Amino acid sequence: MFPYTLVIQHAAQVLTLAGGPTARPLAGPDLSSWTIIENGYVACQGDKIAAVGPMAELDPARISPETRLIDATGRVVMPGLVECHTHLVFGGNRAHEFERKLRGESYLDILASGGGILSTVRATRAASEQELLENALHHLEGFRRYGITTLEAKSGYGLDRDTELRLVGVARAAGRRQPVRVVPTFLGAHVVPPEFKEAGPRAYVDFILREVLSDLKGEAAFVDIFCEQGAFPLEVARYFLEQAHKMGFGLKIHAEQLHDLGGCEMAAALGATSIDHCDYLTPAAAARIAQQTQGQTVAVLLPLVPLFLRQEKYAPGREFIDNGLPVALSTDFNPGSCPSKNLWLALSVACLKMGFTPKEAVAAATLNAAWAIGHAADCGSLAPGKRADLLVLNLGSVAEIPYWLGENPVRDVVIGGEEV
Ligand code: NIG
Ligand code: FE
Repeated sequence: MFPYTLVIQHAAQVLTLAGGPTARPLAGPDLSSWTIIENGYVACQGDKIAAVGPMAELDPARISPETRLIDATGRVVMPGLVECHTHLVFGGNRAHEFERKLRGESYLDILASGGGILSTVRATRAASEQELLENALHHLEGFRRYGITTLEAKSGYGLDRDTELRLVGVARAAGRRQPVRVVPTFLGAHVVPPEFKEAGPRAYVDFILREVLSDLKGEAAFVDIFCEQGAFPLEVARYFLEQAHKMGFGLKIHAEQLHDLGGCEMAAALGATSIDHCDYLTPAAAARIAQQTQGQTVAVLLPLVPLFLRQEKYAPGREFIDNGLPVALSTDFNPGSCPSKNLWLALSVACLKMGFTPKEAVAAATLNAAWAIGHAADCGSLAPGKRADLLVLNLGSVAEIPYWLGENPVRDVVIGGEEV
């Protein structure tokens, strides 16, 4: 038996999240099976978790002078956070629109006036690849400090072939240059670019399907589309997702963010891995989705977005969970609707505004978030064989996690068995 390479020991509590069913994400009642080990350890062998348990069961024969030991006395150890919905790569920022928003202009009004997403598209097209990469690395560094160990990154601010491919390339390059794992998603269908204003949404998605998707094979596992007034109507979104599915891509959708257009149900029926935003998704529709998909489609809820957009309508997360729909939580980090990387704050707001319990919030940003990006087999919980991505928190008990509003509780971050 090889000695362990890293052992995190004497933790007041080890939250494993490994007790639930492994064949599908956790829905509400399953959370009763989540596991907290008092006075516990986590042992790593290379980049994988080798063992998790109470200190009394730590095998001294597997500890050698080369084993790195981290003392977690009085602290919580938990899986690294999984950030399952971000728009990581963009040029510029939208601070200039913040005051417009505070004066009462809505998100869609600003977009219709040529601002919003379109203003970031102009800044992104004008930015050099080096600039975009440096910005992405800067943001990844911020995410890592918050304990994010895997992060999904969408394109969507290029809206032409070359810039969209560049954004996916930059996301991948950023993933190679620092420890946080980056999972790219193609969101070329974010809004209709000015060049297709006359031709319309269907002509634009035809262009993407014809000219862009074939070059994305192996570069991005998922495609996404923004189904909303002022973006893509339901029937165009359905057509796009059907065609992309035939080409072998996994499916995601931004839907029911500002109106109930039926995008979530449509995408779930096509086998979408996640349906994101859902602020206007009704509990009845959520129940139908849960029934139809048997827990395979995860609703990704983004509580900082309605907060930042001053929209007092939050997804009814409590009802979704009670109706059996698995939920994940994410920031939606982007320059327009959520310029925050603080996923811990999102957990707190999910408890305060969406009816999550603290346990559900934590599961939603770890194991269920891993499901939402197709990575549940290798991250999201502390289980032997999974990647050794874990956090030591400056907290004495798991119960404190969503309580310290806006604080970053992270002391140590381990990614792939390395302290980072
Ligand atoms: O997820 N809603 C659509 N897209 C992003 C926002 C993008 C932006 O405003 O720049 C979102 O909220
Ligand atoms: Fe988004």
